[in-house]
Amino acid sequence: MPSKRNTSNSRRNARRDNKDKQENSLREFFLSELKDIYWAEKHLVKELPKMEKAATTESLREAIAEHLEVTEQQVEKIEEIFEMLNERSQAKRCEAMEGITREGMRVVEETEKGSLTRDVAIIVAAQKIEHYEIAAYGGLAQIARTLGEDHAASVLDEILQEEKEADRMLTDVAEEHVNEEALMEEMEEGEE
Ligand SMILES: [Fe+2]
Repeated sequence: MPSKRNTSNSRRNARRDNKDKQENSLREFFLSELKDIYWAEKHLVKELPKMEKAATTESLREAIAEHLEVTEQQVEKIEEIFEMLNERSQAKRCEAMEGITREGMRVVEETEKGSLTRDVAIIVAAQKIEHYEIAAYGGLAQIARTLGEDHAASVLDEILQEEKEADRMLTDVAEEHVNEEALMEEMEEGEE
């Protein structure tokens, strides 16, 4: 018959094994999400110039160009995170981001070239992208903290703030330069 002490030791070991297993699967999940957002950012480096080119107003083109630079740096920041975790940088196709950008560009193409309605469509598409990223980075930063990867968490928080800033910038462009004017454009067209 096992002694009392042996029984409690083996229980403790079992608990520890279980915790290790859970941490490993959480780490796996974290890495898988990181590969997903890494793909998404690299994809955006290719997609943002198309949106910039399609935009009608200078202020929207500038806002997109600025966020393209930030996005290029984010790709590097994610590579740093892979390095911190002693993992190879690896991208995994993000079907969500692929879908959001594809649909966004399709909607944009349905608007008239050179119109302000086109800018409204671009801003809506870009904000859908930002909100996806805000959700992804918020989740990733939280998991990194749970895993005790504080340095990775702080880089992820930094990126999260950049995405929120991009979202605010788009709202400003819409409010100051695009939405009202787009409506005027419609009204003028109606009068003709
Ligand atoms: Fe981003």
